[in-house]
Formats: sequence, structure tokens, C-alpha cells
Amino acid sequence: MPEASANIGVVGLAVMGSNLARNLASREGNTVAVLNRSRAKTDELVAAHPEAQFVPAFSYEEFAASLQKPRTAIIMVKAGGPTDAVIDELVKVFEPGDIIVDGGNAYFPDTIRREKAVRSTGINYVGAGISGGEEGALLGPSIMPGGSDESWVTLGPILRSIAAVAEGEPCVTHIGHNGAGHFVKMVHNGIEYADMQLIAEAYDLIRRGTGKTPAQIADIFAEWNRGELESYLIEITAEVLRQVDATTSLPLVDVILDQAGAKGTGAWTVQTALALGTPVSGIAEATFARSLSSHPEQRAVAASLPGPAEAFQVPEDQVDAFIEDVRLALYASKIVAYSQGFDEIRAGAAEYDWTIDLGAVSKIWRGGCIIRAQFLNRIADAYAESPELPVLMTAPYFAEALARGQAAWRRVVVAAAQAGIPAPAFSSSLSYYDGLRADRLPAALVQGQRDFFGAHTYKRVDKEGTFHTLWSGDRSEVEAEDTH
Ligand SMILES: NC(=O)c1ccc[n+]([C@@H]2O[C@H](COP(=O)([O-])OP(=O)(O)OC[C@H]3O[C@@H](n4cnc5c(N)ncnc54)[C@H](OP(=O)(O)O)[C@@H]3O)[C@@H](O)[C@H]2O)c1
Repeated sequence: MPEASANIGVVGLAVMGSNLARNLASREGNTVAVLNRSRAKTDELVAAHPEAQFVPAFSYEEFAASLQKPRTAIIMVKAGGPTDAVIDELVKVFEPGDIIVDGGNAYFPDTIRREKAVRSTGINYVGAGISGGEEGALLGPSIMPGGSDESWVTLGPILRSIAAVAEGEPCVTHIGHNGAGHFVKMVHNGIEYADMQLIAEAYDLIRRGTGKTPAQIADIFAEWNRGELESYLIEITAEVLRQVDATTSLPLVDVILDQAGAKGTGAWTVQTALALGTPVSGIAEATFARSLSSHPEQRAVAASLPGPAEAFQVPEDQVDAFIEDVRLALYASKIVAYSQGFDEIRAGAAEYDWTIDLGAVSKIWRGGCIIRAQFLNRIADAYAESPELPVLMTAPYFAEALARGQAAWRRVVVAAAQAGIPAPAFSSSLSYYDGLRADRLPAALVQGQRDFFGAHTYKRVDKEGTFHTLWSGDRSEVEAEDTH
């Protein structure tokens, strides 16, 4: 058996695991033990990176023996059954006080279940969301760990050493107990869906409204990236739009099949939001927009349905103003998407009894992850000023931005509807904004309908109590049991 020389281990050496192991090994003070189910990946990694001085293990017993106590291992295997399989093996060779970290993309209820099961053995279990893809894993990801306070004492310094750094601060914080880290990572991905869809809608409106080429629109995005929209996603959008296909010499975006894929984290975010009763309409529309795009058979049939009689063309002298309107609409819709995402985290924390510092979450997303953006500093400021803020978009900075952008936002949504250009994320964000700020909502009528067909009762604006109208009787009102 090897001597216990490593302070951290990685199980699963595909692209994410091997990059994370290399990242760990490159930081002062770390010695990294590595293990993979099939031996070849371990041999390849160790041979390709002698500078990392990995401690290879070829069995779980060897792996455990090579780790100093408390043993700490990060699992980076295919999410789902493989994660459970690795946990089962680690539990056999680890001891109470040791720490098992799942760095894969687990669904947070699985993390809650696993944490409970592993905790019963005395071993700590930490579900850690890791964002940033392959490059992030190697150079510095944004890390969202859950788990116990005890495990954070050992794990904190290790994760801080490998995380991305934004404005001098490592992009990692202890999110909360059991599944809190994977929950926050899930919502991060949901917000990412919304942000990408909004950018795509902005591109589509400009292209179809002004006839600008993808390369010209790339310049517009590059310009936007120098202002309040500055973000990784805007930056890469300009790169993608500028790319020319080597085979056809056409803009690459015109030869990519217009069917967007998804790995499921957007759907999880929406399903969870539905269960929590939290309207994340921007994320939902973005997720559904990908689904809609991926039904070519339905799209082929529906292509015969009529659209507007007149073609959409922004007059020459209004092109610059239209583009500025789209920019403002994009920023306003983005504020709504993030506001909704943070609302879901707040609701999740209340439901699962986590104490989550929303300002700290926004800060660790400033580097390493896909939604990194200047904008996140404003979110951190808002929560620093008002930690219990019930609606993020009402923070002074965002309220001002929405006030500044709302007229443009409305013009863009109207233009999209009249032009027959789908803008589900733009328009649903505006509806959410108008819904939340409304003095009265037609929910009163919905309650009336519910009372009519199901005697579900209603409350009144002018007195306490619960009421029911005898709809099939004399239509007088009676006081009733609350069946809302
Ligand atoms: N790729 C990304 O950009 C990205 C970004 C963030 C998070 N993640 C998450 O990170 C994790 C790792 O991702 P990845 O792309 O590097 O790898 P992956 O393709 O998801 O998984 C491959 C790894 O899982 C191992 N594995 C599969 N079944 C196993 C089992 N039953 N028992 C033990 N090991 C098993 C494989 O071992 P063998 O070599 O023996 O087959 C291999 O090491 C995943 O949860 C993924 O969702 C990925």
C-alpha cells in the first residue's frame, strides 16, 4: 500500500476530472491522488503530466491509503448511477470524518439523498456545483459547494486554491447544507439558458429588422460588450457571429442547424420552480424555445401557417434607434431573468432550510463560469444594501435601469409581434415585469371562476374571512371554510 502522501484525490479522469486534477496539482501545497474505473485514463494522465506529480491509484484501497486524513476525494464521473457506484466504493474504504465531494452535475434531490445516506456512516458528503466547462476546470472554475460546516473547514482552502479569481476574490463560497450547492448550480444553468435565449432573440430581431450581416451584428455585440451588458456570453456571441464557415464561405451561424440541444439542467430549474411556485418565466421560455426548435417535423408542417401581411423592415433612418431599443430591451429582460433566478434560490432556501447568502452567490459567478458578467457586481451591491430584498429588480440600480429601458422594451416586443418574429423571452420578461408591478391582477376573476365551478372560495378586499357565492342557488354570498 502507498504511504498517505496526498491531501486531495480525484476519482474519474475524463476531461473534467483530469483538468480539475491538474488544476489542483498546480497549486502550492497540493498533492493529488488519482483514480479512474478503467486504468488507461490514469496511465495516460500520469504519463502526460509528470510535472503534476500525481499519486496514481488502481484500486479504491490504494486510493484511500494514499490520502492523508481526513481523506478528501472529489468525484468527477458521469452523473447519475456512476456517481452512486463510486460513492458505494468510497464509503467502504473511507472512515468517519473523511470527505466525499461530488463535483459532477447532480440533480440536487439526489445530492440531498446521498448526503443523508453517507452522513449516517460518519463520512461527510459534499455536493459541489462546478461551472466553467473544461477550461474552467483546468484554469479556475466557479465552485458552488454544499455540505456540512465541518467538511468546509478542510475543503474550503483546497477549493479556494483552484477556483477562478474575480476582483481578487476566489469564486467559491460555502453555499449551504446538503444539496444547496447543486441547487444553486442548477439555477445558474437555468439563468444561462435565459441569457443565451435573450441574446439570440436580440440577434434575430436586428438581423431580420435591419438586414445587417452576422459580421456587422458581431460588431454591434462587441460594442455592447464595452458597456453595461459586458459579459462572457455577449463576448462569445460576437465571436460566433464573426466566424466564417471554411467549406461554404458563409457565416457559420447560417450553416449550423437551427435546433438547440439541452442537457436537462434548464428543465430541472423549471420543474423545481413549478414545484416551489416561483415564476421563472424567462428560464422556462428559453427552455421551451430550445424544445420548439428541436421539432423539425412540427416546424415543417406549421411553416404553411400565415404570418403578417407585410415584410418587416426598419426604415433606414431608424436603424440605429432600433438597435439601441433592442440593447435596452435585452438589458431589461436580463434583469428580469436574474431577478427570477435569485427568487428561485430564495424560495429553495426557504423550502429546504438553507441559509444562502445571495450576494455571495452573485460574487462567485463573476469569474470562471458561463454567466460571468460585470452585471453581477450590481447584484452583489443590491444584496449588500438589502440582504432580505424580496424582488431583485426593485433594487434602486435595477429599478432605474428598467425605468430607463421600459419604453424601448415595449417598442421591441410590439415590433416583434407585428413582424411575426418570435421573442418569447423578451415578451415573457415584460409580462412578468408588468404582472409583478400591477395594482390589480385578473387573478380576482380566476378566483371567481374557481369558486363558480369548484367552490374553491375567495377572499375579499374589504373584510377578513373566506367566502363562497351560491352560484347554483340564489347567488347570495356565504362565509366558508378556506379551500384555496
Ligand atoms: N464536460 C463539461 O463541460 C462539464 C461541465 C461541468 C460539469 N460536468 C460534469 O462533470 C462530470 C464529469 O464530466 P466529464 O465530461 O469529464 O466525464 P463524463 O463523460 O460525464 O464521464 C466519464 C467518466 O465517468 C467514469 N464512469 C462512468 N461510469 C462509471 C461507473 N459506473 N463507475 C465509475 N466510473 C464511471 C468514466 O470512467 P471510464 O474511463 O472507466 O469510462 C469516466 O472517468 C459529469 O457529472 C458532468 O456532468 C461536465
